Amino acid sequence: MIDMKYIKNIFLFFIFTIAIFCGFFLFTNSQAAHANTINLNLTIAEVYEQRSNHNPDGIGKFYMGREIARVMGHTGAGWLERGSREVEEQPSKIVDALKLQSDSVVADIGAGTGYLSFLIAPHLPQGRVFAVDIQPEMLEIIGYFQEEKNVTNIKPILATETNPNLSTESIDLALMVDAYHEFAYPREMLKGIVKALKKGGRVALVEYRGENPFIMIKSLHKMTQKQVKKEMQAVGLVWRETNNVLPQQHIIIFEKPNFV
Ligand SMILES: C[S@@+](CC[C@H](N)C(=O)[O-])C[C@H]1O[C@@H](n2cnc3c(N)ncnc32)[C@H](O)[C@@H]1O
Repeated sequence: MIDMKYIKNIFLFFIFTIAIFCGFFLFTNSQAAHANTINLNLTIAEVYEQRSNHNPDGIGKFYMGREIARVMGHTGAGWLERGSREVEEQPSKIVDALKLQSDSVVADIGAGTGYLSFLIAPHLPQGRVFAVDIQPEMLEIIGYFQEEKNVTNIKPILATETNPNLSTESIDLALMVDAYHEFAYPREMLKGIVKALKKGGRVALVEYRGENPFIMIKSLHKMTQKQVKKEMQAVGLVWRETNNVLPQQHIIIFEKPNFV
């Protein structure tokens, strides 16, 4: 007599194998489809558009439909270090959201005075932070704080507008807090960041929520999730999660997949 339990087990095994196979097939196909939509060889002229009619807070240069904001000069350093920042924006919550390992290598890109670099550095006793900025004056401030606070695992790095100046596959995480929206060449910077990420490395973008009209920040200093995803996906990054633990900003996390 046929054992029904045995037949049931065979049937379940069969269904399970088919499900695994279909899942794998769909996953690899969606990755391949994504890879096919990325063109990393577009020239600067093809990517950016200059318009004379534009927002006075912007530089008149548009990328994927978004106007790029003016760079915050080093004379605004005091604003980044304001005593009320922790209460208003709760930046220390960013550190928890990043789920760092003690040996992680993190690039804080558009570091400014290093507010985030100094929050992160104590969590990386075997790792380090590269504090990257285009303004030498900002890096000088970081150097001054390093001496004052006796912090040895932060390395200031002078970037250019088109290159973060990081070595290939040298970082686990690139963090950009209130900075990306003012990069004059966002696509080139992102390509440099992707190159600098180890396989499976992550990008964390922290920007004021563009969807919320009640967040009282200039419109060009905010970004919607939709826009962020569009720009990150254009260089091959894959969205992983959005964390809304902060009162005014999104923390949007992307991953470098194996195919870029
Ligand atoms: C508004 S500040 C934010 C600083 C810091 N992330 C913070 O939250 O305290 C933006 C910083 O981005 C820097 N920046 C602008 N364009 C950049 C680029 N292409 N590469 C690196 N840094 C850039 C500016 O010099 C400025 O220090």
